[in-house]
Amino acid sequence: MPAASSTGVAILGAGLFAKEAHLPGLETLKGLAPTLKAVYSRSLKSSSELADEAKKRLGVAPDVYHDGDSSANLDVLLARSDINSVIVVLPITQQPSIILKALAAGKHVLSEKPVAPDVASGIKLIAEYNATYKTKGLVWRVAENFEAEPGYIAAGRAIRDGKIGKVTFFSSRVVNYIDQDSKWYKTPWRTVPDYQGGFLLDGGVHSTAALRVMLPSAMTHLSGFASLNKDWLAPHDTINTIIKAADGSHGIFELSFAAPSASRSSVGNGTIITGTDGWLSVSQTKVKDSVTGGDKSVFRVIIKSAKTDAHGKLGPEKEEIIDEAVRGVEVELASFFAAAFEGKDDGLGDPLGALRDVAIIEAALNSEGQPINLEKLVSGS
Ligand SMILES: *[C@@H]1O[C@H](CO)[C@@H](O)[C@H](O)[C@H]1NC(C)=O
Ligand SMILES: *[C@@H]1O[C@H](CO)[C@@H](O)[C@H](O)[C@H]1NC(C)=O
Repeated sequence: MPAASSTGVAILGAGLFAKEAHLPGLETLKGLAPTLKAVYSRSLKSSSELADEAKKRLGVAPDVYHDGDSSANLDVLLARSDINSVIVVLPITQQPSIILKALAAGKHVLSEKPVAPDVASGIKLIAEYNATYKTKGLVWRVAENFEAEPGYIAAGRAIRDGKIGKVTFFSSRVVNYIDQDSKWYKTPWRTVPDYQGGFLLDGGVHSTAALRVMLPSAMTHLSGFASLNKDWLAPHDTINTIIKAADGSHGIFELSFAAPSASRSSVGNGTIITGTDGWLSVSQTKVKDSVTGGDKSVFRVIIKSAKTDAHGKLGPEKEEIIDEAVRGVEVELASFFAAAFEGKDDGLGDPLGALRDVAIIEAALNSEGQPINLEKLVSGS
């Protein structure tokens, strides 16, 4: 297999996340990533804008592909033998068919979360990959940057190392304030979503991925309620759920995009996991960067632990703080290229993990208070 540096990559999709996350990710990786040789978007305008941005950040001039020119459309791009991998950053409902098209053209694929708009289409996609493309040595991974965040991975490791004892209960709360002028809301496919949950699916899979990485056993059952409180966020903007995991622990997962004002999103959110010998919290914060002198974003894990002795007396409480820079996109990209070009599989980006994330959101939207078996849902039975 050729080394990453001697191969070419293309970005399919020219939206905000391609510009603001994937280009900087490739920039950080430098020679560890293949050369960006092409970009594709439906329109010439957005494809050219991404190419211009790539020039600034990466110092390369990728070729521009779009639907308006049959000699420079997606099929022509995918026919290039010097492009071995693609990063798919397209609207949610367009992704599955483009993923299959790229695999059929013999490309390794990294596709943005969610894996598919719903569990059924995710299962179908994974089955087709398994049966037709995996056997040919093609790598398909789902880019879920929260799953790759070193902060969440460190929290999961601390729990597996027994630092808080056996997990008993947990809570994950994210309340967002979003107004109609938000750049994310103004993305046409997000303004009028053609998939379940709207922002709850698009943003919610990040929160469920974080829980999946941190909890020591799989989440197996969910019951919840969903509602729409701001009609312009249809179909739903809020879910409140309770979740049970295979080890018997249980917790609360709350997600809303319907905060009445920005101040509501500044209280109450974050993740806390509680065990028999302590608890830990994870939240995003800013610290001084010792290299640049400016601010940098980190995930901060605070671990508080205390053992009870043989007489039932609680010992002194210890505190440990772990700060990890926010760099999930960079990590997921590096991991994908290592899997595609060096045959190294670190387990990140497994489509089945991403399917579990969609299952939690789908179950929360449909539960109406009834318990839903998540294992059954992801196995398609
Ligand atoms: C695809 O393959 C993986 C790994 O071999 C397996 O765990 C999974 O159940 C398969 N999924 C489907 C839908 O065939
Ligand atoms: C809560 O979450 C929102 C959305 O992610 C974020 O903007 C806000 O800063 C968070 N608040 C706290 C206190 O962590």
